[in-house]
Amino acid sequence: MNRNLRILMLEDVKADADLNERELRRLGHAVETLRVDTRQAFIDALEHFSPDVILSDYALPAFDGLSALGIAKETHPHIPFIFVSGVMGEELAIETLKRGATDYVLKQRLSRLVPAVERALNEAEEYAERKRAEDALSAANRRWQDVIEFLPDATFVIDEDKKVIAWNRAMEEMTGVSKQEMMGQGNFAYAVPFYRARTPVLIDHIESSDDGSIASKYDFIERTGNVLYAEGYVESINGGRGAYLWCKASPLYDAEGKHVGAIESLRDISEFKRAGERLKQSYDNLQNALEDMIKSMSVIVEIKDPYTSGHQDRVARIATAIAKEMGLSEDRVKAVRMASVIHDIGKIYVPSEILSKPGNLNPIEYTLMKNHPEAGFNILKTISFNHPIADIIRQHHERINGSGYPKGLQGDEILLEARIMAVADVVEAMASHRPYRAALGLQMALDEISANRGTLYDPDVVDACLRVLERKKQ
Ligand SMILES: [Fe+2]
Repeated sequence: MNRNLRILMLEDVKADADLNERELRRLGHAVETLRVDTRQAFIDALEHFSPDVILSDYALPAFDGLSALGIAKETHPHIPFIFVSGVMGEELAIETLKRGATDYVLKQRLSRLVPAVERALNEAEEYAERKRAEDALSAANRRWQDVIEFLPDATFVIDEDKKVIAWNRAMEEMTGVSKQEMMGQGNFAYAVPFYRARTPVLIDHIESSDDGSIASKYDFIERTGNVLYAEGYVESINGGRGAYLWCKASPLYDAEGKHVGAIESLRDISEFKRAGERLKQSYDNLQNALEDMIKSMSVIVEIKDPYTSGHQDRVARIATAIAKEMGLSEDRVKAVRMASVIHDIGKIYVPSEILSKPGNLNPIEYTLMKNHPEAGFNILKTISFNHPIADIIRQHHERINGSGYPKGLQGDEILLEARIMAVADVVEAMASHRPYRAALGLQMALDEISANRGTLYDPDVVDACLRVLERKKQ
């Protein structure tokens, strides 16, 4: 200890005080003493002298040691108070200790004074140290409590015994249960406002992998490391109005990495969910409108080219069946169907005489006819479908060896949807009647695609088509 030691002595006999002081020099560092012998002087000294230790006589003419002890304990409880007296019996000594004295030293055995003071100072220092640590801890506690309180999401924290140690304002609002009611509660009390029962919730699930009792409470649970996310509807919160909640729970660790509790945040996403549903509804409406529009467009082609009436519908049925057989996603199957239903829309640019001409077309007529995929693309290209409907239609006369039109694309350059439609188109066209020839029949159509499997037509598409039609025959 290297500081200047201040010692307040309550002592009426100056000679005794001098004896004390001489003894105290053995402490080995600078000592500053102040002797008082009245009540008022003692009180003033406590205030202004700021002693590190008080040495007090027991009996004084104008004051007494026990009263001094009472005052000191009340106003400065942490200053060591040592009785130094010539008249103190054992019983009295014990009484002073009970009342808060640190120690007592008999004047006849003054050699005990220095060890007593040293011990008292050490204890006082240890106490001050502990107090500083506790103050720092409670300041840190207040800080994180303030942070939790500030969070806009309903948030609560539990300790390692699953007792609630934080329950913020947003939580109070969501559940109607106050912080005062919930703090310190254990045994799943935090679940009661949500499920009207003491039952494990997301926060209890962090350490375990058993989803059983938890899973039924949520629409889904997702784990990223040891952080859990879940969503679910809870009926009893928000004053019984219920809410769809997004929840996140995470374990908490101390500086040494020891698990000390867990935190869970809950966000009311009811409005977001409703908006999502409205959006989906309007999207579905839009999709339905789009499909209706496509049906109307297919009617336009068939008014213009009545001889192919029903052709697009039948192509759509075959192409859809092939796409499903090939395991395409639901969305792509839908795209195949939509594109098929209007694949010849470009024919509205081809003069009716050419469309209905019996017999072969001359080269000019054939050129006009071959323009219909590009024309169809131009009609549809500005409509934003989820799938490349316009491109599929532009490519439906392409052939995988590059012999098709309009671009002479090869193999994978042609969209799979268009390769499917090419096969369906050929099969349907050959099997049906045309102005320039009678129906050739299904078998001939199948022979055509089989013969040109891998040259004109995608082999996988041909195989899928054969399987589909084979099943149909049975
Ligand atoms: Fe066509």
